[in-house]
Formats: sequence, C-alpha cells, structure tokens
Amino acid sequence: MASLDELFTAARSIQAKAYAPYSRFKVGAAIRAVDGRIFTGCNVENAAYPVGTCAEAGAIAAMIAGGADRIAAIVVMGEGSALVTPCGGCRQRIREFAALETPVHVAGPEGIRRTFALDELLPFSFGPDNLGT
Ligand code: THU
Repeated sequence: MASLDELFTAARSIQAKAYAPYSRFKVGAAIRAVDGRIFTGCNVENAAYPVGTCAEAGAIAAMIAGGADRIAAIVVMGEGSALVTPCGGCRQRIREFAALETPVHVAGPEGIRRTFALDELLPFSFGPDNLGT
C-alpha cells in the first residue's frame, strides 16, 4: 500500500473510534513520523466542553509516547463536505514537531481533499527555534 493510502486508512479507522457525543463530529488524525511509523488519534469530548481534546492532539500524544518526535506528514479526516483543516491550536501543536513544509493532508471519507504545507496554515509561526532550543 502506498504510504499516503496507508496514512489515510489509519485516519479513517481511528475516526470511527472518536468520542464525540456532543458535537457528533468525529475527527481522526494519523501522523507519519520521520521514522516511518504511524500514530493515530481521535477527538475525545467531555461533558465539561472545554476539556475535550482534538484528534491531532491525541495523535501527537501517541507519537511522543511511542518515542518519535518528528512529523513527516499528517492526515486529518472530518465529516461533511467542508474541508476539516486543523483548528488554530492544533496548527500550533503540529508546528512544534514538524517542518514548515510538512504536508497536512485534509481528508474526507472518500479520500484526500487538499494538501497544505504547514506554513500555509500557520504563516509567520512561532516555534521552538524562537526560543533558541
Ligand atoms: N476537532 C478536532 O478533533 N480537530 C480539529 O482540528 C477541529 C475540531 C474536533 C473537536 C470537537 O470534538 C469537534 O471536532 C467539533 O469541533
């Protein structure tokens, strides 16, 4: 299976596991780490709404827990016909572990709808380099 197909399939599988009883909007995210491994996450909502977490945050947490820390590519899959681009907070979360040119693939159930470089989604971003780390 081609690597983007595999990442897409991983995002679709994890999207089905999302816990989204309040928004009823399930999101899945799949990260390809630079070492080739795939890490996935889904949104996990909460009755105390602000405590809910995004799919991208879950995938990043899985990546870090798995011992990887660089994102080579990410697929974010939502529902409906609109492009489900990562929210502002998740763009910054991705920025921490990705290069400016890292592809962010935005998908729907039928396939990849559009691909952005991270820098397009979060221009003039603030990152670890700003802190000299
Ligand atoms: N959501 C994500 O998981 N990722 C995003 O980038 C956009 C929004 C989730 C959060 C919430 O559970 C639901 O989608 C509706 O906003």
